[in-house]
Amino acid sequence: MPRIWIPRRLRASSTIGAIDNLTLSPLDQTILDRPNGKAQDHGMSNIATLAAPRASTVTIEPTGEAFGAIVHGIEWGEPDEATVFEITRALRRHLLLVFRGQESPSHDQLDTFFRRFGRLMSETYDGSFHYSTFSADEQEQIHRTDHFNYVVNTDEGQTELVWHCDHFQRPQYKVLSVLEAMEFGQGAVPTMFRDMYTAYEMLPFEKRGPLEHKQTVNLDPRKRDLTKWPRLADSMHPVFASHPHSGRRTLYVNEFTHRIAGMPMEESDAVIADLLAHAERTAPTYTHKWQVGDICIWDNVGLQHRRDAMESGVPRRLRVYEGVAE
Ligand SMILES: [Fe+2]
Repeated sequence: MPRIWIPRRLRASSTIGAIDNLTLSPLDQTILDRPNGKAQDHGMSNIATLAAPRASTVTIEPTGEAFGAIVHGIEWGEPDEATVFEITRALRRHLLLVFRGQESPSHDQLDTFFRRFGRLMSETYDGSFHYSTFSADEQEQIHRTDHFNYVVNTDEGQTELVWHCDHFQRPQYKVLSVLEAMEFGQGAVPTMFRDMYTAYEMLPFEKRGPLEHKQTVNLDPRKRDLTKWPRLADSMHPVFASHPHSGRRTLYVNEFTHRIAGMPMEESDAVIADLLAHAERTAPTYTHKWQVGDICIWDNVGLQHRRDAMESGVPRRLRVYEGVAE
């Protein structure tokens, strides 16, 4: 019998057999009624139980740099088990994949494809709430038109974007981020990535111990003024977070991390500065110079990304797909 994903609030009082008798909210129904018939386990049991798949049609070619690989042969629609297996294995090994040479997918095609890798951000309870907020935020130059978001350069250019993971300020991890290059003019700035799994693994034991059970406090970078929006935190995550699917541990501290819970602010500032300096020294980096049509997908728990400031007048437009939640 396939594993059935049951919304948490229904679990205590229900069994798999009893779920037919429950009245479901529209969102529950959406999750349970996914068209591939595998909705109930949101794809994850497929990854966990894949056995000796037949050969996938995709080819995976390492970039030859610290990490990352170029993937050819992606076809839109629901990927077969062999493709889900190969892409998942390549993500674990290379952390970042560039799909190259395929047609630009529709939003529905992206949904159908990425649903096999976990629950989509907008199909989680808090994700749907947060994603709506995110989509309406014009300050970030992110525009939503007909289900598409874009990160675009502006007439005034853009300031530097410092090292971060997407959605660190939200309670739920985003395991997979997805960007597609729609326009990339001469001189447009590339995106840099760094591998925080390695940074964690290279952290000396004497520094790990005191932080082993500590949590970071994170605030939405757009609303950092606590006097204007008083609150304790927008999210808290372990300093050494584990990827929710693979369990691999990473140093989950970035340039926006507000503080470490349970430490005086001065000590917390010093520890965060030390961890960031350590990451700067030890985390392997990869710089992606976009080609139009590239679709970059990456492990957003273990990788951080940044870009330099953008000059005015240089076309640079990346399409943002919502990505996959834990
Ligand atoms: Fe980002």
